[in-house]
Amino acid sequence: MNFQLSEEHEQLREMIRDFAINEVAPTAAERDENEEFDRAIFDKMAELGLTGIPWPEEYGGAGFDYLAYVIAVEELSRVCASTGVTLSAHTSLAGWPIFKFGTEEQKQKYLRPMAEGKHIGAYGLTEPGSGSDAGGMKTYAKRDGDDYILNGSKIFITNGGVADTYVVFAVTDPEAKNSTSAFIVEAGFEGFSVGKKEKKLGIRSSPTTEIIFDNCRVPKENLLGAEGEGFKIAMTTLDGGRNGIAAQAVGIAQGALDAAVDYAKERVQFGKPITANQGVSFKLADMATQIEASRLLTYQAAWLESNSLPYGKASAMAKLMAGDTAMQVTTEAVQIFGGYGYTKDYPVERYMRDAKITQIYEGTQEIQRLVISRMLTK
Ligand code: CAA
Repeated sequence: MNFQLSEEHEQLREMIRDFAINEVAPTAAERDENEEFDRAIFDKMAELGLTGIPWPEEYGGAGFDYLAYVIAVEELSRVCASTGVTLSAHTSLAGWPIFKFGTEEQKQKYLRPMAEGKHIGAYGLTEPGSGSDAGGMKTYAKRDGDDYILNGSKIFITNGGVADTYVVFAVTDPEAKNSTSAFIVEAGFEGFSVGKKEKKLGIRSSPTTEIIFDNCRVPKENLLGAEGEGFKIAMTTLDGGRNGIAAQAVGIAQGALDAAVDYAKERVQFGKPITANQGVSFKLADMATQIEASRLLTYQAAWLESNSLPYGKASAMAKLMAGDTAMQVTTEAVQIFGGYGYTKDYPVERYMRDAKITQIYEGTQEIQRLVISRMLTK
């Protein structure tokens, strides 16, 4: 057993940390305030080879592993959780299913430009009436000659409106049990449009929108996997995606802890720094311990996936633990900052707002418990 990161992973972390501090952090608060997505940041990530970290070079990727990918999401989220989830949804939710289930043509046509950062990817599963019950979707794909005609809508789509390529799920045979299929939909397809953009509590510089299919014609070449295989594709995609969110949560929590430690060392009350009070220093100790445990689960799940070992349960555990850690740690960070922490003069209120979503998306914490307990008992 070796808990040390390789030299390549350490170098990658240094490079991304440098980029995050110098290029992402300076505008994070302003982008949050203005709910503004900055494509230039994504383009810079592409230049650094971050938009296709785990994909082989033959598909435009960096040929690295899933551990490298979660390190990237963690480091970005440490300064800006919105930038972290942009990369996470692009890589785990859109790139992964094309890499795993796509034909060679689909990989060259869609995965390559995504890996090279020329295109942004998104994933469309959730509908107004089907969130946790993902199998209850209503979007319908009707076969029509060499095409499918999609009708329906998806909500809460990360990268909605800025993505070029959407991996979406629709029912192809309403009568059959295994009737869900996956499709690759281009933003420019006729009948595809972007609907309402959500106004959110956190991750405000990551756009979240509705996407609408109004007789959207999708060529049969864009069916991803076999007809009826869609639910399995959606679920296995989330198995890995959840670890990307765990990494995002670890990054948010670490960012909040860093800020809290710096502040607590400087802040003097009753004639001494507040770290002299165990009420504060023990909080910091608990925060650091929770983060380290979450990080280990997250890295373990990434390691399992990189080594082609089962990782679904580990990934759900990582997301469960890290999501709760992010919420607790950021709440404590605001507490340590006191009244200042409640203002926008310091970043901890943003971290706290950003943390909440990690307990909700890519499966609520309750769904993670369902996934874990089913795997324990099946
Ligand atoms: N891998 C492979 N196959 C799987 C699977 C997995 N992880 N999970 C389920 N399946 C298969 C089952 O084996 C079963 O196959 P058979 O019919 O052949 O037996 C089939 O799928 C149905 O499985 P279940 O009976 O377990 O399905 P269910 O209806 O009870 O639902 C669930 C299971 C785990 C609750 C699922 O609906 C779920 O994960 N819900 C949460 C949805 C979610 O996470 N949404 C997130 C949206 S994306 C997002 O948030 C993105 C973002 O913004 C960044």
